[in-house]
Amino acid sequence: MTNSIGTVRQDQFKFQLKSVEKIPIEIWENNSEASKHIATSIAEAIKDKQKDFQPIVLGLATGSSPVKVYEELVRLHKEDGLSFSNVYTFNLDEYYPMQPDAVQSYVRFMNEHLFNHIDIPQENIHIPDGTVEMDGVQDYCDFYEQKIESLGGLDIQILGIGRTGHIGFNEPGSWETSKTRLVRLDNLTREDAKGDFTNEDVPYRAITMGIDTIMKAKEIHIMAWGAHKAPIVKVAVEDEVSAAVPCSYLQHHDNTQFYIDRSAASELTRFKMPWLVGICNWDDDLITKAVTWLSEKLSKPILKLTNEDYNENNLSDLIIEEASAYQLNIRVFNRLQHTITGWPGGKPNADDSTRPERAKPGKKRVIIFSPHPDDDVISMGGTFLRLVDQKHEVHVAYQTSGNIAVHDHDALKYIEFYNEYVTSVKDEHITNDMLAAEESIRNKQIGQIDSDTVRKVKGLIRRGEARAGARFCGLQDSNIHFLNLPFYETGKTKKKALSQDDIEIVRNLIEQIKPHQIYAAGDLADPHGTHRVCLESIFQAFDQLKKEKWMKDCWLWLYRGAWHEYPIDEIEMAVPISPEELLRKRKAIFMHQSQKDSAPFPGGDAREFWQRAEDRNREAANTYRRLGFAEYEAIEAFRRWKFDWQ
Ligand code: F6R
Repeated sequence: MTNSIGTVRQDQFKFQLKSVEKIPIEIWENNSEASKHIATSIAEAIKDKQKDFQPIVLGLATGSSPVKVYEELVRLHKEDGLSFSNVYTFNLDEYYPMQPDAVQSYVRFMNEHLFNHIDIPQENIHIPDGTVEMDGVQDYCDFYEQKIESLGGLDIQILGIGRTGHIGFNEPGSWETSKTRLVRLDNLTREDAKGDFTNEDVPYRAITMGIDTIMKAKEIHIMAWGAHKAPIVKVAVEDEVSAAVPCSYLQHHDNTQFYIDRSAASELTRFKMPWLVGICNWDDDLITKAVTWLSEKLSKPILKLTNEDYNENNLSDLIIEEASAYQLNIRVFNRLQHTITGWPGGKPNADDSTRPERAKPGKKRVIIFSPHPDDDVISMGGTFLRLVDQKHEVHVAYQTSGNIAVHDHDALKYIEFYNEYVTSVKDEHITNDMLAAEESIRNKQIGQIDSDTVRKVKGLIRRGEARAGARFCGLQDSNIHFLNLPFYETGKTKKKALSQDDIEIVRNLIEQIKPHQIYAAGDLADPHGTHRVCLESIFQAFDQLKKEKWMKDCWLWLYRGAWHEYPIDEIEMAVPISPEELLRKRKAIFMHQSQKDSAPFPGGDAREFWQRAEDRNREAANTYRRLGFAEYEAIEAFRRWKFDWQ
């Protein structure tokens, strides 16, 4: 298998026979390049207008999607002298109510990402006002519409898409004729915004431009990055236009361009089921994808699929190439069967020619990298326990402190304990720092960043929990490593860029242990998140160490974070977990008390981490069972990352 990120590779798709996409799409390898491209086309439009001494009106969005576009526009201003003096801007939306100086306000967002760094005249900037009185909102919205029209309408509108399919804050149910107005936010949108509103309620309402306002723009650039956007992108561009997915209205706009990365493209039919829309270059990966798809679609185990099943479901090409369903079924069945192993570190003294791991050495050195202090047990607790039980030398390395994900009330509990204890024993050495920390939590303002001491305490809370979890899995303290990578230490959800300091810490540990196996969170699909950055630090460390002889034997196994599992056709090692092991895994997760009940950043999922992990591991086992394999209680899945020099 070759490394891919869950989509069909370009070379597997010979040509497209029909297109089911109703909005033009450009798929980019990464969002940085795509964002530069969008920024350049905006810059060209600005300059064209400047040549004719004309103003230009831009419709702007907030959120994570356009951040790199703004970054590039700022760079073009600073380095290439692009002027914004003829630019008028109208932002799509603002929470309601919202003070402009609040941390979460879109005024602040726009100032920080764009306006503070360019030469746009202040009076040319328009952002819906989250402070107008309720009885004046409608008049205010009408005024906003008129203002856009009085300047000749929007020349270019940039958009992101929400997981509900919203554009602006036009949530499902918005009409095509809607104009700027006050709206109620969808629950999923509020969930997604929770990360910005730590310890506080996300507003229920917003002021947003309407669908009609947006559709009148002469040119629209819409973007979506990351796998979490893939399902909604597919529906918006492939399904019928519907008020249930407001973004689909863009199918009626004649100058819209959708920019997505490979992860956001992964649900498009041309990638997910290319045989439905085109001719494929069949290789083993694609064949496995098609056969497992057919088996699931018809609810038939692989070995029961017939020639007719293939012929009736757009897969007759496969039968032509393989001669018969019988041979094809056996080939795919065997391939999947060989992914299953109870010996994640390799089975000593066994023939390993069809096993996922090497038999030798019988006792391996292993590092489990865990981006946050609990990903090890959540994502691969069963395999962790097995590796220890099977006597491998297992190390765990917690890459970040995880300190932003601890509730204030938990930190206060520890700080008060410390202060009261030290006071009660009449120790003079009680530090001012800790008293100040107690004060700062008690008086914390909404959105305020924790002091260094509070962050330290929160990090220590997670450290203690991680240690307890790893000890529960059978590790000695000397095999538990806390890396505290510096990129994470901002106290905010937004992190610093990965630097050589981070990479060096990871590299040093790998060099010290010289492992045969490394496990890492392989959330390649998440372009912004901590997991992606942590993985990047490992990739870079591998790159810097690749000349070392022992690195040839260092295999990198990727597991997926708490959110979703690998599709069955991408799994290369499936480790069954018995009912008892699943219970032990649950207990290891329970050691992370600060993340229990309701973690500060649970994502759009109300289940606790142990429930998510169990549901996911059971579902993996069920998928194998439905395809016709043995029935296991649960399965943890891995995919091997192969470097071209290995
Ligand atoms: C922002 C806006 C929203 C976002 C959408 C995607 O002004 O109106 O529609 O574009 O929620 O958000 P991100 O880009 O954060 O995924």
